[in-house]
Amino acid sequence: MSASGTADAIERRDLHFDLDDCDMNRWHGAGPHVTQFYNALSILFPEGEKFFMDSVRHFRDRISSPGLQEQVRGFIGQEAMHSREHIAYNKALRDAGLPVEKLEAGVKQRLRLGRKLFSPESQLAITIALEHFTAIMADSLLSDRRTLEGSDPKMSSLWRWHAIEETEHKAVAFDVYREQVGTGAGAYVRRVLLMLHVSIHFWFEVIRNHVHLARGAGVAGDLKGWLSVPRYLFVSPGPLRRVLGQYLAYYRPGFHPWERDNRDFVEQWKSHYASTGQPPA
Ligand SMILES: [Fe+2]
Ligand SMILES: [Fe+2]
Repeated sequence: MSASGTADAIERRDLHFDLDDCDMNRWHGAGPHVTQFYNALSILFPEGEKFFMDSVRHFRDRISSPGLQEQVRGFIGQEAMHSREHIAYNKALRDAGLPVEKLEAGVKQRLRLGRKLFSPESQLAITIALEHFTAIMADSLLSDRRTLEGSDPKMSSLWRWHAIEETEHKAVAFDVYREQVGTGAGAYVRRVLLMLHVSIHFWFEVIRNHVHLARGAGVAGDLKGWLSVPRYLFVSPGPLRRVLGQYLAYYRPGFHPWERDNRDFVEQWKSHYASTGQPPA
């Protein structure tokens, strides 16, 4: 870890995931409704990750630490690759007959409004809140293999790759915020208020997309199927239940993303990739 407490080199990996043979309506081992939950997250990524990149880019030229400058380069490189692969993912959803265009347009419109309403400092605070969301969900996904058990290996591979890189760069935007917006009371209040804001809006977006995708897939009337989602998320394997403590840690004044040191996952993924040339499924 560097002096700023962040992970070391952040590498941009130009990986492609060919989803041609994948059943986009039923690729997850926990069934079609959990599949659409993940698909609902994917709908947010292309526009969401553009928002993250832009909010960090705004401060890029003012960053004084060369180490952090280098990490920002890695962060933008990784998010650009995620955005590209989720554009392809979402195209595969569209080809499977799901109402992707309408949902993506809604996300774009609300983010455009966010860019108008919030200052660059607040947009960066929104980014670090969402980066914390992606980092803790990534931690959950990587720490328990049951999270993707029985899933299409290509999709597991894609989600694990994204989770690994979200872990690698989890503190970059946060460190830019500390350097450029500050570490005092004002910066803290802005950070936690926008986390509260993001917590409501993020789940509103996910649930909205999830309902529309389930309707598009023709499974919206299946009550038993819907019940599989809270059972999966909160009971077994319970990825969201397991990260509740990590979510709440964000509200402490001295919080830093690397206080949860989960570099082991990154190292394991990297050694598998180095020895096989393939991202692990
Ligand atoms: Fe990402
Ligand atoms: Fe990210």
